[in-house]
Amino acid sequence: MSVFSDNFLWGGAVAANQCEGAWDVDGKGISASDVCTGGSHTRSKRITRTLEPGTFYPSHEAIDFYHHYKEDIALFAEMGFKVFRFSIAWTRIFPTGMEETPNEEGLAFYDRVIDECRSHSIEPLITISHYEMPFALTEKYNGWSSRECIDLFVRYAKTLFKRYKGKVKYWLTFNEINAGTMPMGGFLSLGILNEGTTDFTNQVDNPQLRFQGLHHQFVASALAVKAGHEIDPDCKIGCMICHITTYPMTCNPDDILEAQKRNQILNQFCGDVQVRGEYPKFMDRYFKENSLVIKMEPGDLEIIKEGCVDYYTFSYYMSNCASADPDLEKTSGNLMGGAKNPYLESSDWGWQIDPKGLRYTLNELYGRYEIPLMVVENGLGAYDKKEEDGSIQDDYRISYLKKHIEQMGEAVADGVDLMGYTPWGCIDLVSASTGEMAKRYGFIYVEKYDDGTGDLSRKKKKSFDWYKNVIETNGEVL
Ligand code: BG6
Repeated sequence: MSVFSDNFLWGGAVAANQCEGAWDVDGKGISASDVCTGGSHTRSKRITRTLEPGTFYPSHEAIDFYHHYKEDIALFAEMGFKVFRFSIAWTRIFPTGMEETPNEEGLAFYDRVIDECRSHSIEPLITISHYEMPFALTEKYNGWSSRECIDLFVRYAKTLFKRYKGKVKYWLTFNEINAGTMPMGGFLSLGILNEGTTDFTNQVDNPQLRFQGLHHQFVASALAVKAGHEIDPDCKIGCMICHITTYPMTCNPDDILEAQKRNQILNQFCGDVQVRGEYPKFMDRYFKENSLVIKMEPGDLEIIKEGCVDYYTFSYYMSNCASADPDLEKTSGNLMGGAKNPYLESSDWGWQIDPKGLRYTLNELYGRYEIPLMVVENGLGAYDKKEEDGSIQDDYRISYLKKHIEQMGEAVADGVDLMGYTPWGCIDLVSASTGEMAKRYGFIYVEKYDDGTGDLSRKKKKSFDWYKNVIETNGEVL
């Protein structure tokens, strides 16, 4: 018998800016991701304040999910998906973020996507904001550093809850909200673009603005949770954390304290606020030592307390090590690197592969929060090669996913309440960190390349049938 529950939510995940394309179609406004150029593992994406003629912007066409959604959802259904995690582009609904009334064409597009999912008995799981706030809010307010964004976001979220009431049960407010604790999250997740920033991976950083922006996101998220529950008492609203599990490099107490500190600030802080409804005490010292002063308005802490999430979701790709020795060899990661772990192998992009770390993480999180968990991103970004017969033999991806699912099973056997699993980029899409298409995650190959060419046709990889069988057997046959 499977260790996973009968109603376990197997599926896959994408984000609007990385798959939809149609960046200026049907009234859509320009989002933060629309001003990011392509890059690579060794060359940073650029952020251009105005669109440069002749420059390639990967989000503008992406894989054109906007016009292929029926075909793509049919393929997900063929794999047996129970859930499909996608995000809504804020700029389709409120093109600048500041309009009084929503854009009907944008709302209607997501009606079509949601209805298509439901016609295949696929439960939609919607991220309200996944790395793509309206760029007009960056220009006017420097993104989330300004409090004005709270009301604008809440208006947007309420519009979605009302429109899709009864059709969407699972929501997430902000994707990887803790990205804001890291310099790269400044523009990516908070839309903060400081004077002098041109490189995505090397932004002019202002921690005061970032942590102030995070506070605004906490208040906005809590207000959205409260409103969502009032509008549709049946819906479940979760948080989403980028979990970069961090081990001490050695049993040297200095390494252990370094790892604990990193875990507190990067991994636990945001989850604690959103699940427990309170700023954790360890942040007081962090704020003090870093001369950060968070401006709060009367009532903010009460709002945060009243808007706790129903479930905790996270992305898990890798683990890192922390060391008190700054000279140790470093490795990379989606938002932040760390010291290199000699026991682990890495992907072509230098992300350390650690399936057992997922079991460890699930146990740690469940012990801390005791609410249902969901792994809403996990996967291997890899170079896929087309064989002469056109097939894609992605055994490396199968091996990565298999080992992680095994460890999820172990965690469930350990007693963790795990709701579901949506591997990232179930169909190839644009990479968030590098803007590449060459970094592929999908079960479905898309003919689209980094120079913008490709006829956008879809093709099943070897992992497609493998995952289909995993779902069919409820994770028993890997
Ligand atoms: C997560 C993001 O950090 O990692 C996704 O939520 C992103 O948007 C994913 O795509 C994988 O990262 P990358 O850089 O390989 O696309």
